[in-house]
Amino acid sequence: MLNLIRCAGLFLLLIINGFCEDSDLGRVLDEIKRQTVYQDIIINDEVVAHGWGPNCAARYEALRPILEQYNRPITVLEIGANHGYFSLRIAHDFDSSCVMIDFTERLLDICKLNTDRHNIIHLKKCLTLDEIVKLSQTEHFDVVLAMHVLHHMNPWQEYLKAIFHLGDNVIIETPPADDAVVPQKPSVPFIEAYLLTLPEGKIIAETERYTKGTYSKMFWFPGSKTTLDRKTWTSRLMSPEEQNALRIESSYTHKTLIKERDGQKIERKWLKGINFETFKGLNGIYPTTEVVSGEINRIQHVDPQALESRNVIIQGNRLRRLK
Ligand SMILES: C[S@@+](CC[C@H](N)C(=O)[O-])C[C@H]1O[C@@H](n2cnc3c(N)ncnc32)[C@H](O)[C@@H]1O
Repeated sequence: MLNLIRCAGLFLLLIINGFCEDSDLGRVLDEIKRQTVYQDIIINDEVVAHGWGPNCAARYEALRPILEQYNRPITVLEIGANHGYFSLRIAHDFDSSCVMIDFTERLLDICKLNTDRHNIIHLKKCLTLDEIVKLSQTEHFDVVLAMHVLHHMNPWQEYLKAIFHLGDNVIIETPPADDAVVPQKPSVPFIEAYLLTLPEGKIIAETERYTKGTYSKMFWFPGSKTTLDRKTWTSRLMSPEEQNALRIESSYTHKTLIKERDGQKIERKWLKGINFETFKGLNGIYPTTEVVSGEINRIQHVDPQALESRNVIIQGNRLRRLK
């Protein structure tokens, strides 16, 4: 009888918690709709609030063809994701795992409100230079978005070097040299001038700024990253020999990790997402702890051998054990 009462109590508590969570998010959504925001806000593929910043929809159309080249699952990184407009659109339109980095307060709520998206990850961080370098040593992204963010980073040249080392297709958008933001961000003219000197950069869009009459260029830098410098976030840097023995072969249709051990070649299909150690090391807050622990329990139930976080890939709401 006592157990029955306990169970009923627990059930009631879960229901109340469920309602609280839902009504909290409902309040947040109302707040978001009332606020003035920089980016359009997307909830389950619907724009619920229009931003005052540069035209999000037009910019998305400019980068969509780069994503459309892929005919396989992809991993996308967005640095300075703000309220997640671009990653949420990509997460809806493509077989992808979309990693959003920003320190804005609202992004976690927006992730929670996007109940239809199971392939998004939020790392809540104001990325330091050391962190972005380490991320570039550890992970391989198919597409990297760094839009209107480089001028917030200092020293921007060093950040840029690390951004180029993060993956295969790097998109950088930066305000123009004559923009009104220059007095507060004096690096702006230098960034644009430098990007214009890089022969591999292609300008894929010029979008009017909210400052009116000036246009930001969006650059696409296609590249090919074939090696990693560390196996995981917590492991040491590999020697050049070790790096050579671990190569990434990536095309628009296939992505494979090739390991060479004792003269033998082992090929493993690359899983979309990031290593769970990277998620922890960069303050991953979405998916929530509840979802992550549920996934860890599920994996251990299916395959009860000890689970090490470096052998786990987080793809969004789903975690996968590396074989
Ligand atoms: C001008 S907004 C651009 C937002 C979005 N990328 C776009 O183009 O619509 C710059 C964003 O970058 C974020 N940001 C600036 N420095 C950052 C850093 N070091 N690490 C992560 N996010 C950063 C800010 O919080 C802000 O949301």
